[in-house]
Amino acid sequence: MNNAVAGFSKLSKKEKINWIANEYFSTPEEALNIIRNYWNTDEKLQQLHDEFIENTITNLYIPLGVAPNFLINGKYKTIPMAIEESSVVAAASKSAKYWATRGGFKATVIDTEKIGQVHFTFNGDAEKLNAFFNKIKPKFFSDTQNITKNMQQRGGGILDIYLKDKRDLLDNYFQLHATFETKDSMGANFINSCLEQFATTLKDEAQNANLEIEVIMSILSNYVPNCIVRAEVSCQIEDLTEKHIPNPRDFAERFVQAVQIAEVEPFRAVTHNKGIMNGVDAVVLATGNDFRAVEAGVHAYASKNGQYASLSHAKIENGIFTFWLEIPLALGTVGGLTSLHPLVKLCLEILQKPSAKELMEIVAVAGLAQNFAALRSLTTTGIQEGHMKMHLNNIINQFEANEEERHLIKTHFKKTAISHNAVVEFIENLRK
Ligand code: MEV
Repeated sequence: MNNAVAGFSKLSKKEKINWIANEYFSTPEEALNIIRNYWNTDEKLQQLHDEFIENTITNLYIPLGVAPNFLINGKYKTIPMAIEESSVVAAASKSAKYWATRGGFKATVIDTEKIGQVHFTFNGDAEKLNAFFNKIKPKFFSDTQNITKNMQQRGGGILDIYLKDKRDLLDNYFQLHATFETKDSMGANFINSCLEQFATTLKDEAQNANLEIEVIMSILSNYVPNCIVRAEVSCQIEDLTEKHIPNPRDFAERFVQAVQIAEVEPFRAVTHNKGIMNGVDAVVLATGNDFRAVEAGVHAYASKNGQYASLSHAKIENGIFTFWLEIPLALGTVGGLTSLHPLVKLCLEILQKPSAKELMEIVAVAGLAQNFAALRSLTTTGIQEGHMKMHLNNIINQFEANEEERHLIKTHFKKTAISHNAVVEFIENLRK
């Protein structure tokens, strides 16, 4: 058992699944049933999903929910969120409703610059390399004309290319550091194609000029500190009042302190930012964007001052409570999965076909809303009350409760504190 397998990718889907079932399960038929249960009955749709990646055996479902009532820059939005964590959509909806009656969310894209680099080594006179770079710089633009033509028509393209001397970090290390505008596309393919052409041009021209340049690699950077969006909420302190906030000044002060802790204490900052990413990732995923790229870039940005810190900030000034965040987001609303995956298309339609900039605003707002909900719970009732309410369903499902049991459990735990043990005990007593 547990043998290596040769030529797995060449096997048919059926053969792959049979191999998995026989190799790892004592009852292969059961495993096969689970795998098949999650296939789409529409064969064409299943084939589409099969072809997104290699060696697809089935589909892993993640719930797609919506959080309505988001007032963003004066317009209502319903935000689709793909996420498995029970409390996230409920928290987003609650924040949306709360802020809709307090002026809503304001969001602004500050910049949309993307970055890519050609990393290379050169063991020679840096002055000479600099002169060579300045001479051939126009060639980088002309040699990529066929790649950039369409993007230029859409108002994007290569913004600039710099030669960077990185020998203080690594022997002989230089780079071409290029900046791009990719409009409504995330731009990964566009940027990487341009960079690979830059590398070819660099190598060819270096050979002509008798310069010994060794290109190591060409790739976009997922760190986009100049592709930034800001989202904000603010209101008079007394307007913060609601059922769980009887004393708004006390609430605002505790809230600001909670944010300050995340600004100075990395252990708290990571969890605080994780709460922001609950909202961000869910929308990024629902809209077919690359959440790993977003995660990597956002966390790098959170460390930009040398220590990992909160992405959001809060203040009280002249009786006004303001809470905001700024995050880098490289997103697309055209290309990639956006036109391929029927549900991604649907989500973009729910969002009224946003531009990439509008999507940046929506995603940042979802992050801020999530952060607000978490901090509100943490500084008032504590997080477990809401979490356990949502988690109750998971426990009920785990015990495969029938309709009647479900009703009895839910009624009982409306008035009683929910804990895993208490629910299990209640179910066991019911079944005695
Ligand atoms: C849980 O997914 C997210 C929180 O831990 C975020 C936070 O602590 O701010 C509740």
